[in-house]
Amino acid sequence: MTPTFIRLSEQSATITPTWVRLAELLAAVLFILALKGLSSPKTARRGNLLGAAGAAIATAVVFFYGQEYYGGPVKHLPQILIAIAIGSIIGWVAARRVQMTQMPQMVALFNGVGGGAAAVISVIEFLAVESESIPILTATIFTVVVGSVSFTGSLLTFAKLQELMTSRPVVIPLGRFITIGVAVATVATAVLLIVNPTNTLLWLLLGLSLVLGILLVLPVGGADVPIVISLLNAFTGLSVAASGYVLGNVLLIVAGTLVGASGTLLTRMMAQAMGRPLTNTLFGAFTAKASTSTASAEDRPVKSASPEDVAIMLGYARKVIIVPGYGLAVAQAQNTIRELVELLVAKGIEVDYAIHPVAGRMPGHMNVLLAEANVPYEQLKEMDEINPEFPSTDVALVVGANDVVNPAARDDKTAPIYGMPILNVDQAQQVVFLKRSMRPGFAGIENEVLFDPKTSLLFGDAKDSLTKVVNSLKTL
Ligand code: TAP
Repeated sequence: MTPTFIRLSEQSATITPTWVRLAELLAAVLFILALKGLSSPKTARRGNLLGAAGAAIATAVVFFYGQEYYGGPVKHLPQILIAIAIGSIIGWVAARRVQMTQMPQMVALFNGVGGGAAAVISVIEFLAVESESIPILTATIFTVVVGSVSFTGSLLTFAKLQELMTSRPVVIPLGRFITIGVAVATVATAVLLIVNPTNTLLWLLLGLSLVLGILLVLPVGGADVPIVISLLNAFTGLSVAASGYVLGNVLLIVAGTLVGASGTLLTRMMAQAMGRPLTNTLFGAFTAKASTSTASAEDRPVKSASPEDVAIMLGYARKVIIVPGYGLAVAQAQNTIRELVELLVAKGIEVDYAIHPVAGRMPGHMNVLLAEANVPYEQLKEMDEINPEFPSTDVALVVGANDVVNPAARDDKTAPIYGMPILNVDQAQQVVFLKRSMRPGFAGIENEVLFDPKTSLLFGDAKDSLTKVVNSLKTL
């Protein structure tokens, strides 16, 4: 291995020009302000723009300073420009076209690409530069492992969310032992590589890490995929920070650490909202017993209702709670539900929206969706606040939600969502579900509330159904 260039990290820090330092500081401040902005729906748009501006500054600094630093002109300039153009076009088109309900898939994909890029940079560094420094070698190897795990793990979460494969846990025979075996082999190879840095060991480590990413995500069930996306996001952040150390790039260290820290916090908060430890999310499928609910939904009777029936139930109620879920977002029925609620409120009926922390497909999905339709923020009630209200509620109207109201999470120890706090709609006097079929929710399990004698089902697309209910209500 012959060194072909000298790493920035092995140069004296004092040679970095002031303009580069200042630009890096500005980008780092923008990243922090972006995170602050993203913490509230009101400031999220501005936060996003600030983050994008920081990323643009960071990329420009590396591009122009890199040329100057290596005594420019930089090598392979046309290829670099073509790669930037292709990446920018794909990113722009994908972001413009993506439906809000597909956002988690996109995050998973972009996150995987980020982890993969960090791993590739470290592989190239390893092959191109002979480093005597153990800390730098360790950081390089760490990036290869964590970046590769994040790459294949994220691609698999993308496949699960995009329904390119089953979203249920996939448990291969002896899966637990194979996963532990591959994890131990990965760590052992990484240690060997630090002691004896050869290319063969590097390729072995890369292969093991890629396989480990797949093995870790395969047994994760549908409802837990968002937590794993957030965890892999944190992994990518850490690998990017480590690659920043390898390359001597302060901004990569700052940005990677911010992503690593915020991803870790988000993972923790989501796991808490689901009411389960992270180990259970990752490895629960290995120890889970088969679910006890065996009868198919088609075999069991349910009570269906017409839009007119639902309008009467709602129109003569005193208190109604709306439970929005993923189906509301799919149907884009946020404006119609607001219209319905306005009509009910005008009739003197007390109406609130019950917001479950993981309703929909991304954190804050329902808040964003309803804010888009100008639903007053005071009408949105968090789970802990609204749950005591269900017993005194006449009608719980569940619009395109399923898992977040499934009592199996409370009562069935074998259910994949067992332990997740739910909205207790089954305690309301009457329950109405708006959904298209008897298909289960994201976790793929049946919901007993659908078969409860006090439950009525209005089948159809949520927007169509709500429009018909609104029209009926106007004639009451
Ligand atoms: P789900 O359990 O996925 O249920 C959605 C329901 O909407 C289904 O019953 C579906 O039934 C119905 N639906 C779909 N399209 C519809 C349409 N156009 N009109 C009417 N109904 C429609 O959703 P949920 O209760 O919101 O729970 C969220 C689930 O997603 C949880 O398991 C959660 O863990 C997981 N998840 C959450 C996130 C975050 S962070 N929020 C991210 C990824 C995954 P039909 O098909 O019969 O219509």
